[in-house]
Amino acid sequence: MSTAIEPLGDWQRSHHCGALGAQHVGQRVTLMGWVAKRRDHGGVIFVDLRDRHGVTQVVFNPQHNPQAHRRAEGLHNEYVIAVQGVVEARPEGMINLRLATGAIEVNADTLRPLNTSPPPPFAIDESGDLGEELRLRYRYLDLRRPPMQRNLLLRHRAYQATRRLLDGLGFMEVETPFLIRSTPEGARDYLVPSRVHPGEFFALPQSPQIYKQILMIAGYDRYFQIVKCFRDEDLRADRQPEFTQIDIEMSFISERDIMAVAEDLLCALFAQLIEVELPRPFLHLTYREAMDRFGSDKPDLRFGLELMDVAAAAIASEFKVLHGVLEAGGQVKGINVKGCASFSRSQLDELVTYAQQVGAKGMSWIKHTPQGLESSIAKFFSPQAQALLIEALGSEPGDLLLMVADQPAVVAKVLGALRLELARRLDLLPEGAWRPLWVTEFPLLEYDPEAKRYAAMHHPFTAPMEADLPLLSTDPGAARARAYDLVLNGNEIAGGSIRIFQRPVQSRLFELLGITQEEAAEKFGFLLEALEFGAPPHGGIAFGFDRLVALLAGVDSLREVIAFPKTNKAVGLMEKAPGPVDQTQLRELGIQLRP
Ligand code: AMO
Repeated sequence: MSTAIEPLGDWQRSHHCGALGAQHVGQRVTLMGWVAKRRDHGGVIFVDLRDRHGVTQVVFNPQHNPQAHRRAEGLHNEYVIAVQGVVEARPEGMINLRLATGAIEVNADTLRPLNTSPPPPFAIDESGDLGEELRLRYRYLDLRRPPMQRNLLLRHRAYQATRRLLDGLGFMEVETPFLIRSTPEGARDYLVPSRVHPGEFFALPQSPQIYKQILMIAGYDRYFQIVKCFRDEDLRADRQPEFTQIDIEMSFISERDIMAVAEDLLCALFAQLIEVELPRPFLHLTYREAMDRFGSDKPDLRFGLELMDVAAAAIASEFKVLHGVLEAGGQVKGINVKGCASFSRSQLDELVTYAQQVGAKGMSWIKHTPQGLESSIAKFFSPQAQALLIEALGSEPGDLLLMVADQPAVVAKVLGALRLELARRLDLLPEGAWRPLWVTEFPLLEYDPEAKRYAAMHHPFTAPMEADLPLLSTDPGAARARAYDLVLNGNEIAGGSIRIFQRPVQSRLFELLGITQEEAAEKFGFLLEALEFGAPPHGGIAFGFDRLVALLAGVDSLREVIAFPKTNKAVGLMEKAPGPVDQTQLRELGIQLRP
């Protein structure tokens, strides 16, 4: 049966679909929304009417109003309707405790079908296993689903809580431009051609870094902004090409002050949004310690499986390969997987394959049985070497020992990844455990062997640690930065630094980064000049807002907390962006495409 669409006319919605309860019984109401479900029960038609606030059961009884009932027969899922009727208590036994409106129903006397819909390509409900492509292609339908509504509502509350808290702490929100000169944050820029200046380009900001520093120079101490950033980089579940930061900058401060604000903000968000009290004060680990113990600069502290140095045992062993690695400046490190000596051969093979996939040349395993150490490499270990190994790894019978020997960066990468993989396989990630920590004393510079020069590990405006200033002339690679990351359960959720505020130091840093004076003047002249006009000591931090909301929502992918995200190929599937543009547009921009 077809349904004739009617205009809304002078009807006014009296309540939304989650509002009605026992206290409204007897009232006449006007509801509008989407048909979530229609059930025909021997003459009586029940419609679950949905909007973003909830679902209300609407009843069409042929005895009560034959015309409305006839019209209701033509309704299908996702039709948009308006109904008028009286709120009635549901009969005893029909009360739905799972529904906020489950104690009542609306006995409809008038129905206005406002719009139709083809059958949706997936059910608008809680089901979790929908293909993501389909969801993104029909994002408007996906966004009607309760899980997405909950996530976006949480995100909304996170914006509001952030603004409330920072405003309360005396921070001032200032917008900075999107059409800018490139700011280096280590990724590729998204470029925007200028029509007015053919051959010239704006870049979209990778972050508002330089602007916020200039705001400090301008005296706007305590700035914040909830701001989009754009980075053309390889995407993963925790990265989007455009993402949102809570960007913060402060003057006349040290690390302590910024960390206090960041902790206040994080704790407030967790308390207000998911009623979790984060343990304070947050733990601090230096970068070195994090890498040594966890093989990662964003360690997940919810479980142990720490990396242990087993060089002494390796030296005492007859295992030539290990000697060779150590002589070449490498490391031999291991993980004690408690109680896992019972792993089968195929489980062990899987771990070795995993280690190889993440970059190991190989990985050795040793089972600690009541009879002693068992492994194809056990024969290389004398009783004395075995004792050293057992001591270094704190091993007991029943434990499984995994060992990797390589250059430090490889050992950290492999064992760091293996640690996480083991935690997943062994189910060591308890629900509801939150382990925030600060990682500090990052290296200032990273050597890029391909480009044969240093790159800034955080960004080029990060101040070196006072104590390491002399190293800038002798051993720049060893200098540490006044940079810090905030890490939560293995996620880098914020990063920041104390900035260079003296022009000569900034110039020196550009020099170390291989940026010539001319280049520095050309690209950052405005910052260098501004630094001369009374720049206060300053520093700041930026939270990855999407990552934060994903953690609060308990979802793995940032796409679950962004209304219109890009795929991991950086594509908008619904709107088909990016797409080609008209020849005329290109001509105006002075751009000619290569065939
Ligand atoms: P940084 O580059 O560390 O610092 O970024 C800050 C935080 O932003 C988040 N983040 C991302 N989230 C989603 N998708 C991405 N592609 C992405 N890249 C980064 C991370 C990260 O910790 N201007 C400096 C901040 C400062 O020094 O004050 C900056 O942008 O959670």
